[in-house]
Amino acid sequence: MTVVRSVVLGVGSYLPARCLTNNDLAKMVDTSDEWIAQRTGIRSRHVAAERELTSDLAYAAATAALEDAGVEAGTIDLIVLATSTPDNTFPATATTVQAMLGITTGAAFDVQAVCSGFVFALATADALLRSGGGKRALVIGSETFSRILDWEDRSTCVLFGDGAGAVVLDAREQPGTADDRGILTSHLRSDGRYKDKLYVDGGPSSTRTVGHLRMEGREVFRYAVGMITDVIDDALAATGLTAGDIDWFVPHQANRRIIDGSARKIGFPPEKVVVTVDRHGNTSAASIPLALDVAVKDGRIKRGDLVMLEAMGGGFTWGSVLLRW
Ligand code: UT7
Repeated sequence: MTVVRSVVLGVGSYLPARCLTNNDLAKMVDTSDEWIAQRTGIRSRHVAAERELTSDLAYAAATAALEDAGVEAGTIDLIVLATSTPDNTFPATATTVQAMLGITTGAAFDVQAVCSGFVFALATADALLRSGGGKRALVIGSETFSRILDWEDRSTCVLFGDGAGAVVLDAREQPGTADDRGILTSHLRSDGRYKDKLYVDGGPSSTRTVGHLRMEGREVFRYAVGMITDVIDDALAATGLTAGDIDWFVPHQANRRIIDGSARKIGFPPEKVVVTVDRHGNTSAASIPLALDVAVKDGRIKRGDLVMLEAMGGGFTWGSVLLRW
């Protein structure tokens, strides 16, 4: 019996021109290249220009993904954009991007699951495509976390960066086996008891301000590997695949130690792990599509490869998506 699967047709990304190194940050707060590199693996990150908005980053990534896929913007009937740093409280940044792309049909909306946003957006778009809620989707992760950082708080401002990534998904009939192309399974989780571990201390309803990011880093770290590996196990169990079957592990890029710890626990060898946190920092919902784009463009991820995506972040939210490229 055939099934509909969401097949990735193309990927694209965008990084703002300005690059901030650890040494640049050491001139702003009491930190050092050595501390940041040792504790996080980050060496540099990109920061959006003054007039550059989340929608601008998203538009650039979406345009690159459409070009990579070889499809016209007019064929897109669903845009799901993951962000925690929208241009405005409303409308959804996705509708701004829709207008920038000249699309006037279909639907566009934002998904907010902080660092897990791209995984949540992919799973949402996949569910809609599989149930006939669209034929072709743009799934975007775009963030300007530089706008919500407290640039005097060394425990957070050194960790994050700006950027955007996007994929084009196409609903296609497949035989219905683990050899199919496209999204094979997705697993989303959240637990709001941990909402105060990583949050922004402002918002339209609470303070009528935007607020700044606050994090109990050590606490987030404590839960991260366990939550990440749980949903990877769920994806493997759902498909009957094993860690040895996975060609590429493309994790959310928050901290090199979390990535290495998760890969080690599951049994993914280091050469199969895509790491970009050193150059991008934590770009929240944008980190997975940015890493995907790097590994596709440098020739590592090829058509037919099995790719495991995972993320964990504020909420807490966490999730995995297993797909065949
Ligand atoms: O995307 C998902 C969300 N985020 C994450 O996944 C982040 C998860 N957490 C982490 O990645 C790590 O906990 C951090 C990188 C944030 C911190 O690393 P850590 O090894 O957990 O360090 P710590 O928070 O335990 O701090 C150790 C020390 C502290 O000094 P004392 O109290 O031991 O004297 C901090 O004040 O390091 C100090 N410190 C710094 N020193 C230099 C904190 N930030 C800095 C800094 N430069 N930027």
